[in-house]
Amino acid sequence: MKAFLEGNCCVVGLQWGDEGKGKIVDFLAEDADVVVRYCGGANAGHSVRIGGEKYATHLLPVGVFRPGVINLIGNGVVLDPAVLFQEIDELVRRGVPISPQNLKISYKAHLVMPYHMQEDAARENAAGAKGLGTTKRGIGPAYSDKMQRTTAVRVADLQHEDKLKEKVAFIVGERNKVLKVLYDAPPVDWKQVFETYRDFGRRMQPFVDDVGYLLIQYARAGKRIMFEGAHAALLDVDHGTYPYVTSSNCSSLGLFTGSGVPPQTVRNFVGIMKAYSTRVGDGPFPTEQANNIGDYIRERGNEYGTTTRRPRRCGWFDAMAVKYSVDLCGVNAIALTLLDVLSGLDHIKICTGYRYRGQRLDYFRADMDVLAEVEPVYETLPGWNGNITGCRRFEELPKEAQTYVKTLEKLVGAPARMVSVGPERTATLVR
Ligand code: GDP
Ligand code: IMO
Ligand code: MG
Repeated sequence: MKAFLEGNCCVVGLQWGDEGKGKIVDFLAEDADVVVRYCGGANAGHSVRIGGEKYATHLLPVGVFRPGVINLIGNGVVLDPAVLFQEIDELVRRGVPISPQNLKISYKAHLVMPYHMQEDAARENAAGAKGLGTTKRGIGPAYSDKMQRTTAVRVADLQHEDKLKEKVAFIVGERNKVLKVLYDAPPVDWKQVFETYRDFGRRMQPFVDDVGYLLIQYARAGKRIMFEGAHAALLDVDHGTYPYVTSSNCSSLGLFTGSGVPPQTVRNFVGIMKAYSTRVGDGPFPTEQANNIGDYIRERGNEYGTTTRRPRRCGWFDAMAVKYSVDLCGVNAIALTLLDVLSGLDHIKICTGYRYRGQRLDYFRADMDVLAEVEPVYETLPGWNGNITGCRRFEELPKEAQTYVKTLEKLVGAPARMVSVGPERTATLVR
């Protein structure tokens, strides 16, 4: 595994999230010195299973489960301090040490405020069926304020309490007018918001650092750095299936702006893809199986959201979509996850292309109006039986499973160097 970390590496989701990034980051972190989150916020949910114990992180990098690893939260993250401290308290209670020694937070990160969550939920509720199906964690409104600038609050602002007070009073005053007119929402008490965030700031202070500067020093010192992507390439605000995306650059491209390092810092890009497709929330999904196949995958794969517990929509693997993500993210190694879930199916389909208005498309198009109309073209492969979770070498897998993996890697254009056959850290085959 060390090879993946020579020249540092980024782990990135290639579908619509929940590919098992948490599991693979934790697996690779055995050889890492530093793990960095660079995008998104508490809308992410990364699960890890160690010796039967289950953990889920929303904001903390998964490196917290490896003693000695330094975990960084980059400037590209939108931080909800309430969730952060809840997560820290819960993990510390369970014996996972978290302190300013192994966790550092960028002073440039932006904060998710209570009115962001209120606006996210109000907007989704008012839109009804036309909503995006967000996690209601305030992500879109927090990033909007970041771009808006005068209505944003950053981690650094927490250290200047007098100015923070003024800022919060101004922003909440303005926001209350908007929320009232648009959604007839009750006003937020600015003083309460100020006091809560002032206290969060005092608690956060020992963790706050200059993450970009630290990373540049670590890279120069030859430390092995892993960038933990959240969400996935198809949810990237610029390159995903817009508008059914999240509000950050959550492909690998976001790591440079989201953590503050130059591009040559990272040589390896490990793309995570599950052996089928899932999507939570709304938006086009060409290979969706809203039938007994989808139900079979959901139940065997426990495909329920880590953050919201919503049932995930399930379907066949979409090689058209993943090839696009592999190209976009510069992926040079794949980790294929959840292969065990497909055991027991007679046959397995792979989408190898799309037909659009009678014509074959030669490349994925991140345009929801086109995607909503495309017809997937499938190749069918034989399935396999039996529990493969105990396999520890690729050659131990049923021949049909091996063929499935080899077919996928050829279609997406990158080698499957890791194959995951169960949620446990140890259920990972390296090729
Ligand atoms: P992430 O957001 O990409 O980190 O993925 P999630 O943690 O939200 O969802 C992936 C789920 O699949 C979690 O419940 C993992 O424990 C589980 N998981 C990961 N890899 C495997 C695997 O190879 N097989 C099975 N059965 N479960 C897996
Ligand atoms: P991880 O890191 C799956 C989806 C939401 C919704 C859309 C916008 O666990 O893979 P948002 O709250 O971000 O404004 O919602 O994006 N979404 C995810 N789906 N896994 C995630 O993260 C996701 N993060 C956002 O479901 O459709
Ligand atoms: Mg998840």
